[in-house]
Amino acid sequence: MKGLILSGGTGTRLRPITFTSAKQLVPVANKPILFYAIETIKNAGITDIGVVVGDTKEEVKKAVGDGGAFGVKVTYVEQEAPLGLAHAVKISQDFIGDDSFVMFLGDNLIKDGINSLINEFRQNKPNCQILLARVANPQQFGVAELEDGRIKRLVEKPKEPLSNLALVGVYMFDKNVFEAVNAIEPSWRGELEITDAIQYLVDKGYDVHPHIISGWWKDTGKLEDMLEANRIMLEGIETRIEGFVDETTKIHGKVIVEKDAEIHDSVIRGPAIIGKRSKILRSYIGPFTSIHDNATITESEIEHSIILAECVIEGIGSRIEDSLLGRNVKVRRSERKPKAYRLMVGDNSEVEVL
Ligand code: DAU
Repeated sequence: MKGLILSGGTGTRLRPITFTSAKQLVPVANKPILFYAIETIKNAGITDIGVVVGDTKEEVKKAVGDGGAFGVKVTYVEQEAPLGLAHAVKISQDFIGDDSFVMFLGDNLIKDGINSLINEFRQNKPNCQILLARVANPQQFGVAELEDGRIKRLVEKPKEPLSNLALVGVYMFDKNVFEAVNAIEPSWRGELEITDAIQYLVDKGYDVHPHIISGWWKDTGKLEDMLEANRIMLEGIETRIEGFVDETTKIHGKVIVEKDAEIHDSVIRGPAIIGKRSKILRSYIGPFTSIHDNATITESEIEHSIILAECVIEGIGSRIEDSLLGRNVKVRRSERKPKAYRLMVGDNSEVEVL
């Protein structure tokens, strides 16, 4: 069995972060989301993985390389434009050959892995197995309507959903899916939809098995989802202090301080992670905060946030919360007159002030 991870597309909902970076590379607990997908597939015993890439291919290739660092072999499949999930499958036919495969959307996170689901697929050998999860906002997903435990209908982002069962971004197929992706037409939004390809399999009488999952799963498209994913992943960390922590600093709960990080005269309340070579001075870092590498936080308070590499936060009187700061962002108090907010923020940024 092979793996296919989709890491193309555009990350419109996470702009401006994704103007300059692939959405699948935004880190959760200091690790790109895409890496979790690779590890999840590897843990299920699959090491031959295709990665579909688009505009951000150079960045993805640089981060993932040949897969050796993960113990897998990665083959890149280049998609000329984000023409749909089924289009990504279609152009991967040479890589997949006659094998069965698991397709994993590169911005999805499944906390409990997919080992048992892969075993179930291998044992029962349906033509396709889809995962469904109950959600509060089904209109934002592909939605399944079941009848007597079997799939009756799949609709992509319905205005009036007929159930609260959303399609999770992990699908298992045998080679018959290629008949489907080659037969369907683009949807109203101009994409070859994977939901239409699966509906085709259902209509043609292929065995499509739905599996309702109850564990934690997230499509990390939006800020709130990123922060929640960060929270869940940080809950699972174990304390590891490899950097320098001075004796006036207090560390509570589970905290990772990476190599060459320095913490002086501060309070770190975990779960939290401080990246390599970052400096925390006279500050409070609260629960569910990930600070990436080479950041400097001075005389500030941060909680429940993701701070990317090279950021500088200095002398902020109020607490920074529920925030995602892109790379190399500077937020500091200024004594300069006249007293004023001075901003240089990218397109589609959001700033809330007290
Ligand atoms: O997350 C689950 C949902 O994922 C499902 O419920 C939906 O049925 C499914 O269509 C999909 O919806 P999204 O709107 O979230 O898909 P998105 O466009 O965000 O693409 C998902 C991933 O696939 C993302 O990592 C980008 C990548 N992608 C997307 C397209 C359209 C590609 O690599 N190529 C593409 O052409």
